[in-house]
Amino acid sequence: MSNITITKTSELKKKYEDANKLVFGEMYTDYIFTMRYLPEKGWHDAQIKPYENISLNPASLVFHYGQEIFEGMKAYLSPNGEPLLFRPDENFKRMSSSAERLKMPKLDEKLALEGLCELLKLEKDWIPALEGTSLYIRPTMIAVDPYLGLKPSQEYLFFIIMSPVGAYYATGFNPVKIYVETKYVRAVPGGTGNVKAGGNYAASLLASSAAKDKGYSQVLWLDGIERKYIEEVGAMNIFFRFNDAVVTPELSGSILPGITRKSIIQLLKDDGYSVEERHISIQEVFDRAKKGELLEAFGTGTAAVVSPVGILNWNDEVIEINENKTGELTLKMFKHLTGIQTGQIDDKYGWSLKI
Ligand code: PLP
Ligand code: COI
Repeated sequence: MSNITITKTSELKKKYEDANKLVFGEMYTDYIFTMRYLPEKGWHDAQIKPYENISLNPASLVFHYGQEIFEGMKAYLSPNGEPLLFRPDENFKRMSSSAERLKMPKLDEKLALEGLCELLKLEKDWIPALEGTSLYIRPTMIAVDPYLGLKPSQEYLFFIIMSPVGAYYATGFNPVKIYVETKYVRAVPGGTGNVKAGGNYAASLLASSAAKDKGYSQVLWLDGIERKYIEEVGAMNIFFRFNDAVVTPELSGSILPGITRKSIIQLLKDDGYSVEERHISIQEVFDRAKKGELLEAFGTGTAAVVSPVGILNWNDEVIEINENKTGELTLKMFKHLTGIQTGQIDDKYGWSLKI
C-alpha cells in the first residue's frame, strides 16, 4: 500500500436495518478519506480516518466565494459480493477539469482512486445488495485559505464521504414530472455549466423549489440566451425517443458531460439505435409529442440512474409521454446499465472496476 495513513475507529456506527427503507443521502459511513494541497507540496497528507466534522477558519475562501467542486459516483456489490465501481476514472478526470475551470489544482487522480479503493475495502459492509440501492460516493474539493479578498486559494482540502442510498426520486423508478423553466437559467456559454461546481446547484434552487411547490420533481433547463433549446434537468441529462431515433442535447459547453449519458449513448448505438446529439428545441418536443412521434423520454445521471420522464409542463401546457408509464427502451437501458454496474451483465467495455 502507498502513503495513505489509516486510522481505524473502535466504534462502528449502527448500519441501516432495512435496505428497502434507504432514501438518498441521509446516512454516512464510518470513515472519510482526506488529502490536502499546497503549491509547494502538491497533494499530500492522504488519510483515511473516522468520519468526523471538519474544522475550518470562518474566513476560508470556500465560504465566501464558493470555490468548491464535487463528484458523484456509486459502488455496487457484484453477485460474488465484491465492491464494484462504475467508470471511476471518468469522475476523477471530470473533477480535474472542474478544478481547472475554478482555478483550483488538478486532482492527483491516481491517489484519489487509490484512496477511494482503500476506503471501500474498509466500508464494504455498507454497500447495500438490494436491487435499486448502492453506496453513493461524494468526492469534494474546497478552498481553505483564510482570506477575505477575492483570489484563488493556495491550500485545498479534498475529501470523500459515502452514503448508502435508495432511489434518488421519492417516486422510485416511476416516471417523474418535469417543469420546463422559462424564467431562470442554469448556465450560459462561457460559464461553469459544464463543470461540477457547487455554485451551479445553489443557483438552481430557487427554480427547482418553485417547481416542487407545483408538484414537479425537477426543472428542465433551457439555453441561457434564447430560452429555446433544451439543456438538461436539475440532476440529470435528458434523452427523447422519437420513433427509432434517440435525441439528446449536444455537449454545448453549458451542460454537464454526464458519464451516464456517455455510457447510455454507447449502449443505444450497440443496440442499433440512431443517436443524435444536437440542438433540440422545446417547441420540437411539444410539436412531435402532439403528432404522436415522441415515444419516450428519460433522464440519466449517477444519482438518478435512468429515470423515465412522464410529464412535461412548458408554460402551463402539459404533455404526457407514453401515458405517463415507463417506456420499453427506458426500461431496457435501465436494466442494461444497472446490470453492468452490478456485475450481472457482460461488461465488454471494462467499465466496472472490481475492488
Ligand atoms: N447533469 C447534472 C446537472 C447533474 O448534476 C448530473 C449528475 O451528476 C448529471 C447531469 C449526470 O451526470 P453523471 O451521469 O456523470 O452522473
Ligand atoms: C449525481 O448524480 O451524482 C449528482 O451529483 C447529482 C446531485 C444533485 C445528487
